[in-house]
Amino acid sequence: MKIFLAGATGVLGRALVPQLVARGHEVVGMTRSASKQDLVRSLGARPVVADALDPDAVAQAVASAEPEVIVHELTSLSGRMSLREARHPERFSGAIMTNRLRTEATDHLLAAGRAVGARRFVAQSFGAFRFARAGGPVLTEADPLDPDPPAALRTVQEGLLYLERAVTTIEWGEGLALRYGGFYGPGTSISLAPDAVMAAPIRKRRFPIIGDGGGVFSHIHVEDAAAATAVAVESGRSGVYYVVDDDPAPVREWLPALASALDAKPPRRIPRWLGRLAAGEAATVMMTEARGASNEKAKRELGWQLRYPSWRQGFAQGLG
Ligand SMILES: NC(=O)c1ccc[n+]([C@@H]2O[C@H](COP(=O)([O-])OP(=O)(O)OC[C@H]3O[C@@H](n4cnc5c(N)ncnc54)[C@H](OP(=O)(O)O)[C@@H]3O)[C@@H](O)[C@H]2O)c1
Repeated sequence: MKIFLAGATGVLGRALVPQLVARGHEVVGMTRSASKQDLVRSLGARPVVADALDPDAVAQAVASAEPEVIVHELTSLSGRMSLREARHPERFSGAIMTNRLRTEATDHLLAAGRAVGARRFVAQSFGAFRFARAGGPVLTEADPLDPDPPAALRTVQEGLLYLERAVTTIEWGEGLALRYGGFYGPGTSISLAPDAVMAAPIRKRRFPIIGDGGGVFSHIHVEDAAAATAVAVESGRSGVYYVVDDDPAPVREWLPALASALDAKPPRRIPRWLGRLAAGEAATVMMTEARGASNEKAKRELGWQLRYPSWRQGFAQGLG
């Protein structure tokens, strides 16, 4: 099939293009920068240059590709957060831009897809820290999202909800929103690279377990997230899907294992009140109250198979 990929040069896009090409698809990859066209070519796609926030440029880029499927992998999260921004993620410039990509750019891509007669739209969403803080430790697509998230997570939740509603209700084809778990693996914030955004503070023992560390996280290796996306390009009905591994686990279990995989000392532990003071309300809630997600629907309906079914194996073998 002909596929238009917005975000071809990103963490997910770089893993996805080769998988799509290996499955026999023809990929046009969008980037803002003329200088990144060679990267797109080296991955196996034809580059097209456009700014996702410019509706005319997006319409033209999509029209030139005549795609059957559009994939939206646009984010802007790579900048390093200051401590103040970590306490108030809603003020992080990358989060503000990402919200625009999840709302405005989604609208532009959807309009362009409809105009060219595309029949499927697959978009990156995010699954972690969004469930209502009630019920068991592992929840599904049918369970409610937090109606009252911590203030710092409210705009993120709103942007993701906007994207999910817009994508999954298209009338001209199937619209799938993939709620990825927290990425790890090459190029992501959890990798062996010395400057990996989350790995670096763990190595410096500046990433403590807050309270009982009972918040449950769902991880996903970036290659497995790309594999789920590649199958979602070909099949699956409109809706949201959790793209997470088989092994949701509390912070107190996975963080020491990750520190060990990074050759770091075990994480420190701090009480909840100190966590609130040092890291803020949102981080404290994540580390103590987050719920994990089940990947049953994605496996059943998309026929997705994981290379790293558990972060236990993935942290040990897949960070490099
Ligand atoms: N689920 C997760 O855990 C998750 C999800 C997302 C990101 N992250 C983390 O965030 C970090 C990297 O994130 P990132 O979002 O900066 O970068 P990224 O994953 O490298 O991708 C951003 C993509 O969006 C494109 N893009 C952004 N704004 C655009 C615009 N206005 N017009 C056209 N294309 C645009 C970029 O293209 P060009 O730059 O080529 O124009 C690039 O292809 C990693 O550490 C990763 O682990 C984690």
